[in-house]
Amino acid sequence: MVKNFLSIDDVNKKELLALLDRAAELKKEVKKGKDQTKLLRGKSLGLIFEKPSLRTRISFDVGMKQLGGSVLVLNSSEIQIGEREARSDVAKVMSCYLDALMIRTFGHEVLTETASFATIPIINGLSDLEHPCQTMADLLTIKEHFGSFKGLKIAYVGDGNNTVHSLMLACTKLGIQLSVASPLEYEPSEEFRSEFTTLTHSVAEATQDADVIYTDVWSSMGQERDAVRRKKIFSGYQISMKLLDEYAKPEAIVLHCLPAHRGEEITTEVIDKHEATILNQAENRLHAQKAILLSLMAQ
Ligand code: CP
Ligand code: NVA
Repeated sequence: MVKNFLSIDDVNKKELLALLDRAAELKKEVKKGKDQTKLLRGKSLGLIFEKPSLRTRISFDVGMKQLGGSVLVLNSSEIQIGEREARSDVAKVMSCYLDALMIRTFGHEVLTETASFATIPIINGLSDLEHPCQTMADLLTIKEHFGSFKGLKIAYVGDGNNTVHSLMLACTKLGIQLSVASPLEYEPSEEFRSEFTTLTHSVAEATQDADVIYTDVWSSMGQERDAVRRKKIFSGYQISMKLLDEYAKPEAIVLHCLPAHRGEEITTEVIDKHEATILNQAENRLHAQKAILLSLMAQ
């Protein structure tokens, strides 16, 4: 059966930990200058973007090249999935040429539907529901910093969106305590909740004694028209120095998947102070995705 990476739930705990170990190993190797181009030599990855991207696009492209493969970036307006031809035909035809396909899209059903027709692995490069590749980089960053996940408290402050959904699944799988503070009616979906995820409307409660403070934009891609209204609703959910000093552990790290809206979900002061960790988190997209690509495409 073809393996996909549409959700964190597509891997079990053992597989997830193995992916993180592989990512760490690949990172160490590449920094030492080791040639990794034999690992996916001759393999091709398609990338379809129905939304903008910086990190996802570059990290998949560079990652494939480091592994000896190639990428084909497809602008969704060129293929016009579902307009020029049916999604099922696109999925089947692309399976004839490519060895795997990453899709960044709106509705998660686009991914599941494509995967049901494709005969190659499909990777979720972000949907409205989940952002599993991001979570793998987040976990790698946390593990590098703390050495293990044992006893950690992660606090996520902000919108109950794709980023936190995938993080919730991962924390549940690994038994990590995740406390999520969101405004009323902006909580994460019920289906992602578990005994390891605490939901509150209180930022103080979520961030109290946290080791990791994580946030993401108040308006995700596709919600831009709602941004003014959302700014008002989320105004009490900003990560500031005051909040960190008052509630988080003194040695807490701050994470942001980026792009950040400075002065909204996070102050410029906080993001600049924690820049090294946040940039490492962005870099880890590359290493984590290389491990994912190998698990799906290598013989
Ligand atoms: N974090 C992330 O997915 O960034 P891009 O939207 O730039 O790919
Ligand atoms: N929640 C954000 C994540 C961007 C990487 C969005 O969907 O736009």
